[in-house]
Amino acid sequence: MGNCINPSSSGSHNISDHSKISSNPGLSSASSLTTCSTNSTLTLPSYVEGGPCGPHPTPRTEGEILSSPNLKAFKFSELKSATRGFRPDSLIGEGGFGYVFKGWIDEQTFTASKPGSGMAVAVKKLKPEGFQGHKEWLTEVDYLGQLQHPNLVKLIGFCSEGNSRLLVYEYMPRGSLETHLFRRAPHPLSWATRIKVAIGAAKGLSFLHDSETQVIYRDVKASNILLDSEFNAKLSDFGLAKDGPTGNKTHVSTRVMGTQGYAAPEYVATGRLSAKADVYSFGVVLLELLSGRRAFDRTKPDAEQNLVDWAKPCLADKRKLSRFMDSRLEGQYPKQGVRVVAALALQCTGSDAKLRPRMSQVLAALEQLQDVKKGAEKLTNAGHRNAPNPVIRSPAPRGSTLPPITQSTRVR
Ligand SMILES: Nc1ncnc2c1ncn2[C@@H]1O[C@H](COP(=O)(O)OP(=O)(O)OP(=O)(O)O)[C@@H](O)[C@H]1O
Ligand SMILES: [Mg+2]
Repeated sequence: MGNCINPSSSGSHNISDHSKISSNPGLSSASSLTTCSTNSTLTLPSYVEGGPCGPHPTPRTEGEILSSPNLKAFKFSELKSATRGFRPDSLIGEGGFGYVFKGWIDEQTFTASKPGSGMAVAVKKLKPEGFQGHKEWLTEVDYLGQLQHPNLVKLIGFCSEGNSRLLVYEYMPRGSLETHLFRRAPHPLSWATRIKVAIGAAKGLSFLHDSETQVIYRDVKASNILLDSEFNAKLSDFGLAKDGPTGNKTHVSTRVMGTQGYAAPEYVATGRLSAKADVYSFGVVLLELLSGRRAFDRTKPDAEQNLVDWAKPCLADKRKLSRFMDSRLEGQYPKQGVRVVAALALQCTGSDAKLRPRMSQVLAALEQLQDVKKGAEKLTNAGHRNAPNPVIRSPAPRGSTLPPITQSTRVR
């Protein structure tokens, strides 16, 4: 679920404080950028069943959205017993918009089962938010009721009873990337796992952006990247998702929503949204993976609070790069790999949206990094102890406009 950002801000570092914690974006300052309808009959875009996205989105009524054959309509009482009465010891997370509980359901019938038997699920129970909360809940049901991909969290069902709005997801045993990077996690994420997580999230975003009807996710951040038992990453929270521009349009205009530190500056300044806003936010996540620092951290000195602003001079200077790296990695990372990811992060967070790479290019670059590492591991395992360090000459896919990132650590 997202937060409303003050559209008058000129950059992510200027976003007003309330944007981070606003729990009632519906009351935030409306402007000419605002396109959210306040009509209670919502119409949202839809897609061809099963495939990535159909060619011609048509508006769907709330009734049509909620009758998705892919989703179960749960009764409140079922979810209450699945989570043992939403007991505090079932609580696994809290966001600005609601609480997330662990529950158990039968795999076949989807009825509540005993804890430990059947299938574990995550039940998100929205705080009563009024119209905006309902709108985001419905948007999430709409998109996740139709989009399926290994790197998008699976929505199993929903509940709408009176003022209660709930969502039932597959349970992701390793929680969110945010927990691992910034909270007390038993083991810090290794370099290889960080790359794996970045690749998973990039796959999810590429899928959305390259679907026939483009979907802009609008909420890329560490807390929305969930991890399964093997650290496969899945994007969660589709309440802010929006169809991308069609025809020869370059953007869609909309109310500015997002999270401080992650939102692209041109989007915050103008409300003009393109897939390149997701690319920017993904670049911020890459910076978080490198540094172990939050996108926006009020506990740091002023100059270091906004990660992008602080990172740019560090990443442009090879000597400063090692100081930028997460100390929990204890130096256990390939220098060349770090340079590649740092250059990618700089390109993604470049201030000119047009020059940012596409997610498919970012993905190709990250995968090439992983392939080189796997190749080197194979050689090592085969007894070739003197295998050379992995060197990536040009991770840009053939014919791509992505500049060779091994040499490009400059800030645009
Ligand atoms: N499917 C899931 N499986 C396991 N844990 C989950 C799942 N969904 C959410 N969580 C946990 O609950 C936390 C809260 O999620 P939630 O989406 O409500 O808020 P958030 O993303 O942290 O912040 P925001 O309010 O901006 O959405 C997540 O960070 C994660 O740790
Ligand atoms: Mg979330």
